[in-house]
Amino acid sequence: MNICTFIYIANIFYINIFAIYINMADGYENYWNIIFSDIKKKNNFELNDIFDINFNKEIINVEKVIYKGEIIHINNIRTEKEKYFNLSRQYTLNEKNINNYDLIIELGSGWGRNIFYYINKYNLKNTKIISGEYADSGCNAQKFIKNKFFNEHDLDIYNFDYNNSDSFFENIKGKYNNVLVMTFWSIEQVTNLNDNFFNNLLNINAKIKCVHIEPIGWQISNKSLMKENINGPRNYYNKNLYKKLTELEKSNKISINKNILDFFNFGCVESCGTLVEWDKT
Ligand SMILES: C[S@@+](CC[C@H](N)C(=O)[O-])C[C@H]1O[C@@H](n2cnc3c(N)ncnc32)[C@H](O)[C@@H]1O
Repeated sequence: MNICTFIYIANIFYINIFAIYINMADGYENYWNIIFSDIKKKNNFELNDIFDINFNKEIINVEKVIYKGEIIHINNIRTEKEKYFNLSRQYTLNEKNINNYDLIIELGSGWGRNIFYYINKYNLKNTKIISGEYADSGCNAQKFIKNKFFNEHDLDIYNFDYNNSDSFFENIKGKYNNVLVMTFWSIEQVTNLNDNFFNNLLNINAKIKCVHIEPIGWQISNKSLMKENINGPRNYYNKNLYKKLTELEKSNKISINKNILDFFNFGCVESCGTLVEWDKT
């Protein structure tokens, strides 16, 4: 039995092996491919599909969520998933922000659940969105959904790598005035983020607001529920995002406006996302 078959069967029996699986080389390439094969079978795409496709695979067995530092035990994730997805995404993916920016970017966007949630919820035909994703399978799944279901929407999908971001940002440079950048549990995948990523982002010649939701609470405060993943399948998770942000703030390049420790996670504390918002100064 190959690994994909094993994961597929394990998911049918609701065994959450996601955390183990992603630590393997190219884990997301395979994981988004599995989700893509489900997406290809769809004849229409509604808001509820965001929750079904994703959560049946990933978190259907979850018994608790973490929200703003509180651990909340839930009886039935099947009925509660939409409520908590909304709570966790609405900080940026809200109605107010539709007209606040001339470009909205998600970096490390996976198969596109956040982007398509936003587009679908508000039918965002006139909002320019750029989605950057590392795995080809994630990009392909997004292109498939866009072409089949959201062809009139202003969404561009590109390959994006935090470690090699020159051409991605070169494409955007000088074309927009006011940009919102979001990362949701994607910088986590890069153990040490390099300066070049921030240099490229800050050089796009635009006003920038950036909101991260990443499992870095331990980097900010020892009051975080989350401790550094030293052992186990998440030991490679990002180690330096907050250090980089504070260095940029000290050199007056950005201003950190908000930290919400342990903002959200479905399930375990080890990957709980802390929210950090900053503006380019
Ligand atoms: C936990 S998933 C989150 C996906 C998406 N943000 C979401 O909330 O559904 C992590 C994502 O980071 C992407 N990733 C891994 N390494 C990356 C890199 N070097 N640059 C950009 N994205 C990367 C993976 O391919 C995957 O899509």
